[in-house]
Formats: sequence, C-alpha cells, structure tokens
Amino acid sequence: MRNEALAGLRDSFAVSPERLRTLTGAFQAEMRRGLAGEPSSLKMLPTYVDRPTGRERGSFLALDMGGTNVRILRAELPGDRTAPRLISAQFSLSREQISTDASVLFGSIARFIGRFLRDHARPGPQKLGFTFSFAIRQTSIARGELIGWTKGWTVEGVVGRDVVELLRRSLEAEGAGEVQVVSLNNDTTGTLMAGAYRDPDCDAGCILGTGTNICYRERTAEIRKPIGPYDREFMVVNMESGNFNVALPRNLYDEALDSRSENPGFQAEEKMVSGKYLGELVRLVVADFCSRGVLFGGRVPDVFLQPGGFGSERLSEIEADDGPEADRVRARLKDWGVEAEAEDARILREASRIVSSRAARLAAAVLSATVTKNDPALAVDHVLAMDGSLFEKYPGFRARMEDTFRELHGAGAGRLRLALVPDGSSFGAAVIAAVSSI
Ligand code: GLC
Repeated sequence: MRNEALAGLRDSFAVSPERLRTLTGAFQAEMRRGLAGEPSSLKMLPTYVDRPTGRERGSFLALDMGGTNVRILRAELPGDRTAPRLISAQFSLSREQISTDASVLFGSIARFIGRFLRDHARPGPQKLGFTFSFAIRQTSIARGELIGWTKGWTVEGVVGRDVVELLRRSLEAEGAGEVQVVSLNNDTTGTLMAGAYRDPDCDAGCILGTGTNICYRERTAEIRKPIGPYDREFMVVNMESGNFNVALPRNLYDEALDSRSENPGFQAEEKMVSGKYLGELVRLVVADFCSRGVLFGGRVPDVFLQPGGFGSERLSEIEADDGPEADRVRARLKDWGVEAEAEDARILREASRIVSSRAARLAAAVLSATVTKNDPALAVDHVLAMDGSLFEKYPGFRARMEDTFRELHGAGAGRLRLALVPDGSSFGAAVIAAVSSI
C-alpha cells in the first residue's frame, strides 16, 4: 500500500519532458502577450534600467525589503568591476509589521535606516537604491506603485501607492532627510544588476527563495505597451513569473493549497516552486497519507497539523540525509516531537524529494523559456544571476535544475550558467542607484 501511495504521488507530481516543452512554449507566448499589453499572467513590468558597465563608482546606500529580513548596506564602488567594499546590517520584521498598515511598516524601515546611519556615520547627502521585492508598476526609475502583495504580506495602505514616496516621508519623519531615494527596483532586477556588474554575459536574474520571479534583458522596442520616457536600447523587464498559470501540471494538493492561501487564483507557479509553499505541499501530502493509513500509523503528528506550520527549511533538513536508514530524518522528527519508524522517515523523505524535484524542474523550465525567447538556438552564453535560500541552500536543487537544462537542450545547456550572487538583491540596488545617478 505504501509503495502504491508513493507511485501515485510520483504520478501526480510528474512533469514529463513533453510537458516541459509545452510549458516553455506557453511561457513565451505569455511573455509576448504581456509585452504587447494584452491580457497575460506575466505582467512584464518595465524597470527603466539596463545593465551596468562596471565603471560605476562612488558610495551608495541600499535598502532591501521583501522577506522577513530587511537588509541595509553601503557599497563603495571602485569603478573597475573589482569587488566593492560593503558594510551591511540586517534587521527583522515581525509578523505584525508585515500585516498592519503602511505607517507601521515604513516607520520601522526608517528607524532601521536611522540606526544604520548612526552606526556607520558619513557626512553629507547619501543616495539610496530601494529594492522592494513585490510587483510594482514603475513609471520611472524612482517611482512605482505596488500592484498587489504576494508571499503572505497584507499591509494596508500600500497597494496603489508610490512606495518611494512612502519611504521618503518616513525617512523625513525619522530625521534622515539626508538620504535621497534615487531608484526603485524589484529583487530580481537587483540580482541581475549585481550579476552583470561582475560578468557582462549576465542577462537574466532569478530569485528562488520565499517567493520566485525572473527578470531579463529585453530590446526596448519589443516592449510594445506604452511605457514612460526611457532612451536606452535595452531594458530589464520584471516578468513577475511567479504568477505564470498556463499549462502547469497542477494537482489536487496544489488546488487545496491555493484555495486556502491569502491570494487564491494568483501566483500559481510560485505556489508550486518557492520556499513559502513547498513545506505546505508536503504537509498536505502527509495529512493525506495519514488519512489513508499510509504514514505515522494513520494519525497526523502535531507538527503537521497547522496550515503553514511546516516550513521548507525543514524539507531541506529532511533531504540533507541521503542514508538508507534515514537516521537523521528520524532524529529531526524526534526533535519535532514525532517518534517515527525508519519506513515512515523514508516515505516522508521521498515525498519531500518528489515535491522539490518538481519545483526544480519547473524553475529550470521557465528560466530556459526566458532565455530562449530571444536566443532560441542558444548561440551565445547566458549567465543567470541567482539569489534566494532555496537555490543557495536546498540540497540538490541546483543540480536538478541543471539536469533539466540538459534534458531540454542537450549540449546547448552549457550556454546556460547559473551563478549564485549572494546578497545580489541588496548590492544590486546600490548598483542601480549608481547607474541612475550618472
Ligand atoms: C514574489 C514577488 C516578486 C518577487 C519574488 C521573489 O513573487 O511578487 O516581486 O520578485 O516574490 O522575492
């Protein structure tokens, strides 16, 4: 019965090579529709910035906000592509700060910046680049309205407002008026810019963390929908790819997760791929297996009872053990209050592998679709700048993505280079501040 249950699970999370190809084609069709301003699950948002030259120089501040950690840094760019000097600090946002109202959120952020400035004093005006890791409708490099929250954020009074203006006001109230907010960007754009600062072949940026999203470099003329003033030949486009929803192999667990989420009907791909949701998918599988008597003697252990209570970092720990007896999985389960037999631990680990493998395959497929839209034959090298805990820390995630590239492109996969850019989303904001101050 256990083997049958696992075989059924494998089937419902399978993504065949044909399905990957269909999905790639559907993704590119959505990209084109979004660029033309036609209805599409891909927003294809203009960012008003192109790759840096690497010659940018000077001192810039960056504020990176979009997960529960807020990062602030100062970067001294030397102007010759060599490593910048960075000073950074990290602050945590409480659940309350991400679920009340704009003044609480932006007031806290301004206080973090005030503290950073006091700890790392430097006289005179300071330019700041702002990474805001949500969908923003930008009308210029330093202006953009929040389209809608994702990743469980629900702060009131921000949707439809210019987030740069909200930040400026709270900085003034905090007495930090010497900080000039000169640019606004999504975390994917920051990551692309940080990657391209080091490597001129970088033309896409991707986050695989709490949420997931991709941006890439597009010919400005291809952006057919109306955009604000911009005079460069290329522009980075933030696709908000987590919202992609065509030709996805969704199953009953995906539907259950979606219907109970804060944003049902949205972020379909993100809910199959990103760190905020993988633990929850496994939790739903465990609950189902228990109800069928396949796991834990048919009783759902407490750690799997609470919706959203089984985080993806736990899956990482489960998959870090590849021993035949799954001893470390059992030990972790014990820490979580579950006495499990070896067979239960092995089934849980297999369920986790099934869910995370599908995530890695889908993540690779949409990245491949992005790059091959403009280079179908993979004629040149593409460096894909990557950031986020899933990509950086989840055992085997990157290797499974690379396998999928080979499955899709054979030897051509050598053209696609995944480059981890740690802190790309924060350092990239400093690079964007520099590019937009020239
Ligand atoms: C969510 C946000 C998107 C962000 C991504 C990664 O999908 O909507 O803007 O880039 O998470 O943080």
